Amino acid sequence: MNMKKTKKRVKVVKMDVKKSAARGKRRSFDLIGDVAVVEADSRAQAQALARHIIATCPQVKCMLREESAVKGKFRLQAYQLVWQDRAKIRQSGLGPTETVHREHGCSYLLDVRKAFFNPREATIRQALASLVLPGERVLVLFCGVGPYAILCAKRGAVVAGVDANPAAIRYAEANARKNKVHDRVQFVCADVRAFHRGETYDRVIMPLGTAAVEYIQEAFRLCEKGGTIHCFGVGPEASPFKEMEARIAREARRAGVRVRFTGRRIVLPYAPRAVKVCVDVQVL
Ligand SMILES: C[S@@+](CC[C@H](N)C(=O)[O-])C[C@H]1O[C@@H](n2cnc3c(N)ncnc32)[C@H](O)[C@@H]1O
Repeated sequence: MNMKKTKKRVKVVKMDVKKSAARGKRRSFDLIGDVAVVEADSRAQAQALARHIIATCPQVKCMLREESAVKGKFRLQAYQLVWQDRAKIRQSGLGPTETVHREHGCSYLLDVRKAFFNPREATIRQALASLVLPGERVLVLFCGVGPYAILCAKRGAVVAGVDANPAAIRYAEANARKNKVHDRVQFVCADVRAFHRGETYDRVIMPLGTAAVEYIQEAFRLCEKGGTIHCFGVGPEASPFKEMEARIAREARRAGVRVRFTGRRIVLPYAPRAVKVCVDVQVL
């Protein structure tokens, strides 16, 4: 599927920039802890947004403007510094773009320049974690700074998280300690294809929006019989799940495993007429 990614935001903070130069096509922002990430067509628009944010979100210490789409294996973006308050940065005791984001009673230390984090995915994180039972063995592939892993551990699961980005894993380990689940979570810095432990898991979560299905053979290898894989993907708005389920079914035949589709979720808008989805697959 060839779709240019545009960000239709599920707004984290409701905003209305009145009488400002920021009345162009792209003007929104996300709050990640006390760092604001601004989407704007020009620096002038970004600065108009900055004035609005300073007036309405006094906790903000730094504002970044997105300069590129999410790219590369680590799924990072380039940012331009729009504004910062040096006194607040000093007070925070963290780096200028490092922050603590709070979500569902958990805190995540992170720096968006170094590791991927999307505050708009809070709802799907909570939805998947709510399925977890105490004692379950959960594997989070593409775990980033640890939000799925930590939420699942909070539910009493024993969790492993895998990510290739060393900075993401350092934050994930710090976050496990911060949220007091370090006794139940282990993070591994590795490519998912190289992750071999001789263990299988009751639940495998694959939150890699556009490419998780490319790794579905790894998930089949790591998922216990009777267990569930949550595979993320992108599909056309008109039939978001069809292509992805057909691909998973083909891959399952290739792996010699029987599967059953047990859940379908629309995660977020992704691009014009395309949505990010999550498909639940039970391995029989
Ligand atoms: C979209 S982010 C998801 C992060 C996290 N699950 C979250 O919701 O905040 C995808 C993550 O997968 C990691 N990643 C991408 N390809 C990978 C691979 N082949 N093996 C291991 N990690 C990978 C990236 O470093 C990135 O942190």
